Amino acid sequence: MENEQYFEVDHLTKFFPVKKRGQFFGKPIYVHAVDDVQFTVRKGKTYGVVGESGCGKTTLARMIMHLEKPTSGRMLFKGQDITLFNGKQMKALRRQMQMVFQDPFGSLNPVRTIRNIVAEPVRVHHIFQNRQDEKIKVQEMLETVGLSSSDEMLEKRPGQLSGGERQRVGIASALILGAEFIVADEPVSMLDASIRADIIALMMKLKEEKNLTYFFITHEFGMARAICDRIAVMYAGKMVEVADAASIVDHPLHPYTQLLIDAIPPLIPDPNWGKNISEGEVPYFTVPPPGCRYHPRCSRADELCKSEIPELVDYRDGHFAACHHV
Ligand SMILES: Nc1ncnc2c1ncn2[C@@H]1O[C@H](COP(=O)(O)OP(=O)(O)OP(=O)(O)O)[C@@H](O)[C@H]1O
Ligand SMILES: [Mg+2]
Repeated sequence: MENEQYFEVDHLTKFFPVKKRGQFFGKPIYVHAVDDVQFTVRKGKTYGVVGESGCGKTTLARMIMHLEKPTSGRMLFKGQDITLFNGKQMKALRRQMQMVFQDPFGSLNPVRTIRNIVAEPVRVHHIFQNRQDEKIKVQEMLETVGLSSSDEMLEKRPGQLSGGERQRVGIASALILGAEFIVADEPVSMLDASIRADIIALMMKLKEEKNLTYFFITHEFGMARAICDRIAVMYAGKMVEVADAASIVDHPLHPYTQLLIDAIPPLIPDPNWGKNISEGEVPYFTVPPPGCRYHPRCSRADELCKSEIPELVDYRDGHFAACHHV
């Protein structure tokens, strides 16, 4: 079952209509947030999506979770087309698919107790007949994510917890229904550096114990390199390189991937580090540049790059890149 096509996305696209100041009539203008993306997540693996702010990572995650409707394209979970699933079908699917959010401060209801927050999914699905069984399950989940299961903890509110503890609560509620596919949108980017590694270690431990599959979003290539089996690099709504982690780290083919790798801070601090990292312009998404979207920032760009969009091409055993000058 290793190579099972577990979660697949085909030509997935999201354009957001935007109003420009002074524009009342005429053609609507769209932000090309996710533009014709396709990929396959394999069961039991961690699929990473890396890219800078605004490249479309959250939009992609929200479409997968049906929090955002795709403009076009298809999504398949275990071979079943879920793109047009209605609310009732999605509710059933949430027993298998859950999301861990970026913001452990904003994503938990501040007035509810930890007990109620973690129990919410099992209540929605009417899993338990009595409150005592539910309480035991909530306590088990708190222990699973490394939190105390004391009555004192159960009655706390999110505001009484640290950021790391809140994210553990978020993970507990994502896992309480027994979900096997977890979409994690930058789960540690808002946490202090000192506790990030703990949360990542917890997620990796749970992955092994529960045979989870992760769709893991991060803007740090170093993070993706450390935990992902396969990595997709996104730029301006498009995937520009997709490969197994070892292959993309050792032989990056796209200049943008190289730039992200160059931006990984060294383990041993080096005063010269970062001097050659280029800071190019961020493209204007409503009017993507013709040709390759990366060409305005690219040192390899020539006339071809300015006119023709490069397709994702398999250069070596499943190592894909979209660049005219690999
Ligand atoms: N609801 C919306 N309406 C209009 N534009 C949107 C909406 N949501 C996202 N966008 C735009 O779509 C693009 C992609 O946004 P998205 O949040 O998916 O990026 P991201 O990669 O998650 O960025 P970050 O790293 O900052 O979280 C951005 O240009 C953003 O401004
Ligand atoms: Mg985001």
